[in-house]
Amino acid sequence: MQKVSVALARRPESIGQEVIVQGWIRTRRDSKAGFSFLEVNDGSCLGNIQVIAEATLPNYESQIKRLSAGCSVTVEGVVHQSPGKGQSTEIRARRIVVHGEADTETYPLQKKHHSFEFLRTIAHLRPRTNTFGAICRVRNCVSRSIHNFFQEEGFLYIHTPIITTSDCEGAGQMFRVTTLDPANPPKLGQEVDYTQDFFGRCAYLTVSGQLDVECFACAVGKVYTFGPTFRAENSNTSRHLAEFWMVEPEMAFFDLTDTMDLAERFLKRIFRDVLAQCPEDMQFFAQRIDPTVIDTLERIVQSQFVRLAYTEAVEILKASGEAFEFPVAWGHDFQAEHERYLTEKRFRCPVILYDYPRTIKPFYMRLNDDGRTVRAMDVLVPKVGEIIGGSQREERYDVLLERMNEQGLDPDDYWWYLDLRRYGTVPHSGFGLGLERAVQFITGMGNIRDVIPFPRTPGSAEF
Ligand code: 4AD
Ligand code: MG
Repeated sequence: MQKVSVALARRPESIGQEVIVQGWIRTRRDSKAGFSFLEVNDGSCLGNIQVIAEATLPNYESQIKRLSAGCSVTVEGVVHQSPGKGQSTEIRARRIVVHGEADTETYPLQKKHHSFEFLRTIAHLRPRTNTFGAICRVRNCVSRSIHNFFQEEGFLYIHTPIITTSDCEGAGQMFRVTTLDPANPPKLGQEVDYTQDFFGRCAYLTVSGQLDVECFACAVGKVYTFGPTFRAENSNTSRHLAEFWMVEPEMAFFDLTDTMDLAERFLKRIFRDVLAQCPEDMQFFAQRIDPTVIDTLERIVQSQFVRLAYTEAVEILKASGEAFEFPVAWGHDFQAEHERYLTEKRFRCPVILYDYPRTIKPFYMRLNDDGRTVRAMDVLVPKVGEIIGGSQREERYDVLLERMNEQGLDPDDYWWYLDLRRYGTVPHSGFGLGLERAVQFITGMGNIRDVIPFPRTPGSAEF
């Protein structure tokens, strides 16, 4: 007898096979004819396998008739063609082992609709719901697709550190890493003396692996890092997390246009893979979350992204006649409402904005000849807004130094980053895709907290 997944047991080619299936009960229904229907789910797919449990099973009265949502079981039996609607197979059980009961009085996931807000309070159990099972599978598919894409393109996967002493984005939104006693830290005058801390200086959780991965791009060419990143920004929005996953490719000898081309091909590849590999889950999102998700992805993989200079975007927004809450002015960052106008109303597709004002972008972006803008690019998508941020990097030593000073960064802290420009500097570029923003866009989920297993947000890190 073979242990098989529910996904495999549901397929017609399993008919006639003796199998073992293991999972959790979703529902039990008793027939007057003296047997019970069990719906078992193991997370391998959205659907359940229907199990027929006859009253002749030795533990029928003592255990099977007490099964309820959340109980765990091993089922041995033969897969049959199912006469019922909604499934092609079912298992006639020969033996059912009950591993764990789930008290119906207290088990929170009874068969009724639960709000996503409520499910966040039981984040340890929400993976057992249809929505979160589907999210797990889509998120996994996206992660695999990311690796496949870069591996097939000849990129090397670089593991950049989580603990860092430099602020990549220069925004000062970092979590401190320290082993000093908070009640009694060593002092130098009024200030805490971090030279006595674990690393002999201030250390933080990284906001981006970019600076480190640039060292490898400037040695082995095309690289990417893919890991958790941390931002201590106090933004309680549906698109921000304090801990999120970012994939950051970095390419030597790539200019901004090469990078926009790569980003567009990369996103289309991910969307195509999800459509091909998770059709059942995508149907579910289309039915339950957002009816447009499949059409949107199908349209995007066929279409071309719009590419628009920041300055042109400002003109379009000003001429739009829209009553924006935040007025549009050159030199200001776009607000969500502006991004949504461009992607949802004006162009109705992903938009790559590039050449932003130097004052609103980090120090490492390459200065354009106009002196006012930098070779930045953001990829915006409908509803979610920015999912990719990237740029061509400033490869000229003097210009980079000036930009650091301009942004109040101490060049001594970045001596090794500056060295890349002193020794064999090359034009190079890269970007970061927020994994959760991508999953949010693909699935249509309204809140980013519901596309990561255990969200970290201001005031919340329970599980
Ligand atoms: O635009 P960001 O800040 O770019 C960087 O960090 C660059 N160092 C990347 C690079 O060029 N290598 O962040 C990149 C992406 C955003 O477009 C967004 O998708 C996501 O990371 N992101 C967040 N996702 C969830 N919660 C947050 N607080 C996020 N901040 C950024
Ligand atoms: Mg950004």
